[in-house]
Amino acid sequence: MSSEDTVGHGVSQPSDAELAEMDRDQLVKLGGQLDGVELVDYPDPWPVKGTRAEKRAERFVALWFTIAGLAGLAFVVGLIWWPWQYRAPGQSGTFLYSLYTPMLGVTLGLTILGLAVGVLLYTKKFVPNELAIQQRSDNQGNGSPEIDKKTIVAHLEDAAVRSTIGRRSLVKRSVGFAGGALGLGLIGLPVASFIKDPWKDSNGPDSLWHTAWQKKFPGEVVYMRRYTGKSDEIVLLRPEDLDAGAMETVFPFRESDRGDAEALSAVFMRSDAPVMLIRLRPEDAQRVVKRKGQEDFNFGEYYAYTKVCSHVGCPTSLYEQQTNRILCPCHQSQFDALHYAKPIFGPATRALAQLPITVNDEGYLVARGDFIEPVGPAFWERKS
Ligand code: FES
Repeated sequence: MSSEDTVGHGVSQPSDAELAEMDRDQLVKLGGQLDGVELVDYPDPWPVKGTRAEKRAERFVALWFTIAGLAGLAFVVGLIWWPWQYRAPGQSGTFLYSLYTPMLGVTLGLTILGLAVGVLLYTKKFVPNELAIQQRSDNQGNGSPEIDKKTIVAHLEDAAVRSTIGRRSLVKRSVGFAGGALGLGLIGLPVASFIKDPWKDSNGPDSLWHTAWQKKFPGEVVYMRRYTGKSDEIVLLRPEDLDAGAMETVFPFRESDRGDAEALSAVFMRSDAPVMLIRLRPEDAQRVVKRKGQEDFNFGEYYAYTKVCSHVGCPTSLYEQQTNRILCPCHQSQFDALHYAKPIFGPATRALAQLPITVNDEGYLVARGDFIEPVGPAFWERKS
């Protein structure tokens, strides 16, 4: 191609040799001409270098990046070492526990805010505020020829050079600190959950395999307790407390918890503890289909199913007496209470776990043992 050819906006096309010879300023100018851009004004914001005002502006920008960095570090440290384990109201450490989520939100938010303010301030204070006029153009989807690529790269380099970031080591260091802390936080978020081994105690009530209904020792009686909203009010249920067609949410109670305010309130907060106790109407009880291996899990017309939905774990709080359906309000899964709570509508694919129950010598409804499968949604290691 000869140097006389034109390539848009009446600009002469330089030869490849001429293009290779051009320095950054010439390429920037050429790129502007090719795009029909006329640089009207390109002032250096700090024409006199090293003034006190310039240093002050630089320190101000660095301050925001430093704030972002410190907040990012605080986020990572808090994410790992803050006391995040649940503390019931009144227990020691409740206050710190209650601040865990706000602390994560504030520190991560401050990190992002600090970075954003730093970048904005830097752009405002140090990047030349050019005034340019561009004619609109369209290359009709013909791709970018070599000349466009080179001039665009030159433009980007020019912007970096004119921003003077290269010679502002304080800003560069603080940006690196803030970016590093944010990166550490982003890595820490998914990694932190692996710090605690979920399989460390596979047989305890805190493992994924068991619930608060697990007996602490052989022969322990775990009663069904009515939810009254008051942790120190213990109301145990007898069969006659439920009318036919009724449903009641119950929690486990063990005599060893009596008088222990902490334990009594903690059980209400356990997500795997609530159970739906359903008393079927006699005519419905005749039509029940029991699950293989769980034929004796009910007590007459009384059936107990976990309230933790097998889809993603919302509370399946609604029982429709006429149809004997249990409904989960989150994604509208429905379970058939007459058919071992198997799903009949919606995204859930597994039946609600059934708690084996009976009535003890004193006439109270009690759990015969823990659930025989994990309650709630699936996880990798789960087999059923
Ligand atoms: S959590 Fe119950 S349907 Fe999704």
